[in-house]
Amino acid sequence: MKSINVKAERSYDVLIDCDWRSQVIERAANRARVAVIHSQSMTKAVQLEADIDAEIFYFPLPDGEAAKSFETITSLWNWLGAAGFTRSDLIVGIGGGAITDVAGYAAASWLRGIDWVAVPTSVAGMVDAAVGGKTAINSDYGKNLIGAFHSPVGVLIDLSWLRTLSDRDFAAGMAEVIKCGFIADAKIINLLSGKSLSQLRADMPTTIALIEAAVQVKADVVSVDFRESFTREVLNYGHTLGHAVEIHSKYTMRHGEAISIGLVFAAELAQIKGHLSEQVVAMHREILSSLDLPVTYPRAAWSQLLPLLSLDKKARGRSLRFVALSAIGTTLRIEDAIESDLSSAYERISS
Ligand SMILES: NC(=O)c1ccc[n+]([C@@H]2O[C@H](COP(=O)([O-])OP(=O)(O)OC[C@H]3O[C@@H](n4cnc5c(N)ncnc54)[C@H](O)[C@@H]3O)[C@@H](O)[C@H]2O)c1
Ligand SMILES: [Zn+2]
Repeated sequence: MKSINVKAERSYDVLIDCDWRSQVIERAANRARVAVIHSQSMTKAVQLEADIDAEIFYFPLPDGEAAKSFETITSLWNWLGAAGFTRSDLIVGIGGGAITDVAGYAAASWLRGIDWVAVPTSVAGMVDAAVGGKTAINSDYGKNLIGAFHSPVGVLIDLSWLRTLSDRDFAAGMAEVIKCGFIADAKIINLLSGKSLSQLRADMPTTIALIEAAVQVKADVVSVDFRESFTREVLNYGHTLGHAVEIHSKYTMRHGEAISIGLVFAAELAQIKGHLSEQVVAMHREILSSLDLPVTYPRAAWSQLLPLLSLDKKARGRSLRFVALSAIGTTLRIEDAIESDLSSAYERISS
């Protein structure tokens, strides 16, 4: 088991390769009530009862984005109220990133903030959503618009959850791991080099090493810049076009799949602007496609993607800028890209 410390508004540890159940039991000691907020499909796997003194309440939620709704948070608040949750009680969120986001937001908003523990069960949840203290639900006007910074008291990564994860969700989560490799840790790229998805899924030691390295990258960035100003922006590598692709696909693509396309686009843009070698651009394509992640998007979509990029710019209240690389592990910002640079980069990733 490895422990990685995060210093945010509170200091907490991310435990990698732990037994989630015994860790939750430890954190539930001396609490009267524990709320387990989990994905419906995991009802059997999340049972704690036999091992714990506290009164346990189970709140099953629908899978995926449906969990991050007003209806969910309203019923969670009502459940917590009916059960009499106080500031010394504990919320445990067990599931993919959608579940830990809403469980964290329930913890952030109930009584202005109670303790919570994240037990991420997807790769994306382990390396990204559960680490960093951002919690959220969706509004009718967009994803994650209602939320709070509220760090958990612990993040418990138990790799046994991954056994039931689909290849598609496993690979989508790995897109964020690859992102971490390109922005900050060449070891990730070396570990993945030449590995197919099936080889990786059969190789637990490498999977653990990758998750550890990616969590370390995120923990380091978040510890320097918890509330997301300049430094934390590097985590958005691949996300400017990636978000536009995600919206354009009407969320039929997984977040990580859209980010995979966005990563190749950002690499091509950096190459066009004279910052990055063709060799590193080619490495983006090789590593992402060997995990069956998409690296192209239809040529005809460009005219619809461009306004979505500007929308992102407006939402952020600043000029359109891209996190880019000059080498593996060295980031810079591109703020002077003109439309022809963007369309040339898009041309290179078009199918
Ligand atoms: N808070 C943050 O900083 C942050 C960062 C990144 C992403 N997110 C959020 O995380 C969500 C995406 O996370 P995600 O990719 O985990 O998606 P998700 O939570 O929608 O899960 C994807 C699918 O995998 C299933 N699943 C999860 N674990 C499983 C397991 N062990 N076995 C079988 N199936 C399993 C889920 O039921 C779901 O169908 C988005 O809502 C995104 O906004 C938040
Ligand atoms: Zn992401």
